[in-house]
Amino acid sequence: MITLQINGKTATVDVEPEMPLLWVIREQLGMTGTKFGCGIAQCGACTVLLDGQPIRSCVYPASAAQGMKITTIEGLSPDGNHKVQQAWKELDVPQCGYCQSGQILAATALLERKPRPTDADIDEAMTNICRCGTYVRIRAAIHHAAGAAPAGSVIHMVAQGEPAACCAKEGGQA
Ligand code: FES
Ligand code: FES
Repeated sequence: MITLQINGKTATVDVEPEMPLLWVIREQLGMTGTKFGCGIAQCGACTVLLDGQPIRSCVYPASAAQGMKITTIEGLSPDGNHKVQQAWKELDVPQCGYCQSGQILAATALLERKPRPTDADIDEAMTNICRCGTYVRIRAAIHHAAGAAPAGSVIHMVAQGEPAACCAKEGGQA
């Protein structure tokens, strides 16, 4: 038996201690917002927060998470209105959406650590992969959530639906 503190609730599950936390979250607890991508700690689709730090739950033994506060996308806010989620909505970040739970949680941890991150801070912290190439909008949304969205900036242009110009200005990263 393993007892976990997840999204403010206590859950006891009967699983092998080495079972990856991802599968406990998805299959034992039925929370499917956390995604499986690579299974080898590379893509970040499975990112959850452990005591506020992002971890890749596909390779993290469930037993090692005991005694720590686990936050999944379902528990980030009661109504989907955490400031990072709001920024994601306002800048229309997701395309297919598959990677975005992990991206949002990674961004949340970054903003907790650095409330006004630079582009370099974002590039260093945000190692999650997006097959759809939403990186420019993710970066803009993090700045937006941090409260930095001056008119005429890349963030403003993205919000106005000008990703092509934005990408050109940012050296084509998309
Ligand atoms: S599924 Fe865990 S990092 Fe890719
Ligand atoms: S939005 Fe499709 S993988 Fe990121």
